[in-house]
Amino acid sequence: MKNKYLYIETFGCQMNVHDSEQMAALLADKGYKLTENIKLADLILLNTCSIREKAAHKVYSELGRIGKLKEQNPELIVGVGGCLAQHLGRKFHKRVGHLDFVFGTHNIHRLPEMISSVENKREKITNVDFSKSLNSIGIYAPPANGTVSAFVTIMQGCNNFCSYCVVPYLRGPEMSRPPDDIIEEIRKLVDRGIREVTLLGQNVNSYGRTFGNDLNFTALIKKIGKISELERIRFMTSHPRDLSYELINCFAEEEKLCEHIHLPVQSGSNRILELMNRGYTVEEYIKKVDCLRKLRPQISITSDIIIGFPGETQNDYQETIDMMEKIRFDSTFSFKYSERKGTAAEKLEGKVEEGEKSRRLTQAQALQDQHTIETNLAMEGSLQELLVEGKSKNSENDLMGRTSSWKIVNFKSELELTGKRVKVKITKAYLHSLRGKIVDI
Ligand code: 5AD
Ligand code: SF4
Repeated sequence: MKNKYLYIETFGCQMNVHDSEQMAALLADKGYKLTENIKLADLILLNTCSIREKAAHKVYSELGRIGKLKEQNPELIVGVGGCLAQHLGRKFHKRVGHLDFVFGTHNIHRLPEMISSVENKREKITNVDFSKSLNSIGIYAPPANGTVSAFVTIMQGCNNFCSYCVVPYLRGPEMSRPPDDIIEEIRKLVDRGIREVTLLGQNVNSYGRTFGNDLNFTALIKKIGKISELERIRFMTSHPRDLSYELINCFAEEEKLCEHIHLPVQSGSNRILELMNRGYTVEEYIKKVDCLRKLRPQISITSDIIIGFPGETQNDYQETIDMMEKIRFDSTFSFKYSERKGTAAEKLEGKVEEGEKSRRLTQAQALQDQHTIETNLAMEGSLQELLVEGKSKNSENDLMGRTSSWKIVNFKSELELTGKRVKVKITKAYLHSLRGKIVDI
């Protein structure tokens, strides 16, 4: 089979990153080889995001650039998938004339069939139907040689309807993948050298709810923990309301469970949390964080924060700052509230002016940077166990590994240690990484 080249660009979250890996795996079977050079591509896929307006803008500007490539090479096939594609459906073809196909979040498994159709008939295709099956998330993506860590999707969709969020509309209702399928996939990954898995879902804490919780998330983690050559388990994302004390305890009981949790808080004001339809108070959130820290004192807590939600007063915003001071997150992703069509928040009064949102965001991010660097500095001199992921991005001569708490550590070594666990002493802390020196292999 002649090699054809595929260029994939991913926008948005870890879910999308993994969906792109699955797309690449399906297309490898059709003879498409991944390239990082867009000019070589026979097929370009954009895996889009529409969680915020900015993400959608980026997609349009990239499609403008791709339009020029298509003028030069009319044989080039261009497809868009992901959340923006799900949202726009057929309308995407009207907005962007040079698209060949548009496919939604439940249609990834149909990619080969769609591409054959475009190759043969050159017709414009749209596939954005929702399906009751889990076909689109169960696709096995073999890891590249030397990869140590892999994503495994354990559920799709979301039933939470947080008032600002489009995900439930674009990824459909929550559905959990059967445990045996998940275990089988992880076993295959481990056979290929994977030592760490990150279990993915919009709200992993409610895993199993769609089949009556015969096996809930904690039980799933414990089952996965029995896979002997697997060394580390992570998960993402958790909902604070559904984070059970059973799961919190699991951090003390299951030694393969890494000491990191991404627990999006969104706001430090109870009034705003209610408007967001989050289902917990700041006090309940802090109680869970305290419990986690009691059981695993080194646990890293990261979070998402939305700034300038409709009705957010200076006082509500100050409560978010106070909450950040109290909790001292290891790091946060913070965003200006972005109005999304069709969500409940769209109809709320008291929209915060853009300039004010930016001012608040800059201040919150500066505070977070201060907390992050202070947390990292406190690690100087400590011993940390790393799982080595490969070469460092900073220097050819360095290797990079992550601590159990998800921090990046760069260190020098002449040895090939990828996939191994090593002990390092932290010699220097930076904002986004640490530097270490090997003390034991
Ligand atoms: N505006 C700003 N941020 C949002 N997020 C989700 N929807 C919006 C929105 N409309 C953020 C939340 C979520 C993260 C993935 O994206 O903080 O946790
Ligand atoms: Fe969106 Fe809320 Fe679901 Fe997360 S839990 S995907 S923020 S609706």
